Amino acid sequence: MEIRRESLVRVTSEADLTERESNLIEQARIAADNAYAPYSEFHVGTALKLSDGEIVLGNNQENAAYPSGLCAERVAIFAAKANHPNKSIDEVMIVVKTDKALKQGFTPPCGSCLQVLWDVQNRQNSPIKIHVQSPDKTLYSVDNVNQFLPFGFEL
Ligand code: THU
Repeated sequence: MEIRRESLVRVTSEADLTERESNLIEQARIAADNAYAPYSEFHVGTALKLSDGEIVLGNNQENAAYPSGLCAERVAIFAAKANHPNKSIDEVMIVVKTDKALKQGFTPPCGSCLQVLWDVQNRQNSPIKIHVQSPDKTLYSVDNVNQFLPFGFEL
């Protein structure tokens, strides 16, 4: 016996973005510009859309003691849950700014951020859409955290 789960990622070119997507990208780009990432030079911005339309921003915050830093996604998610505990997160827009060549063409959130998103999605019992804009402006989207993390950890 085996358990199989497939992922579906939609790929949209810059010319085909919706106005909603473009607006969220604009916010996430502002966040990326404010990232503190002198060590990796990998600037990430995140714009979260909450259930009432409010936008919460986050960016990666590095530290001279490297492991003390945090990814853009978790900065934004924890800020949202700290300040708006009763609102759900509907959509996550991530913008990556780097001169590095990306091996997969785009960078999905890291495993730790996906686990946090997976847990939030379970708690709020409604799907969280995730979009990642790569440096070449192509948008990679999934309709549910499970598409990037099919087997999250749950107690
Ligand atoms: N980073 C993020 O902000 N989000 C991710 O999903 C992966 C990585 C940050 C952490 C670090 O500051 C830099 O990118 C390089 O790993």
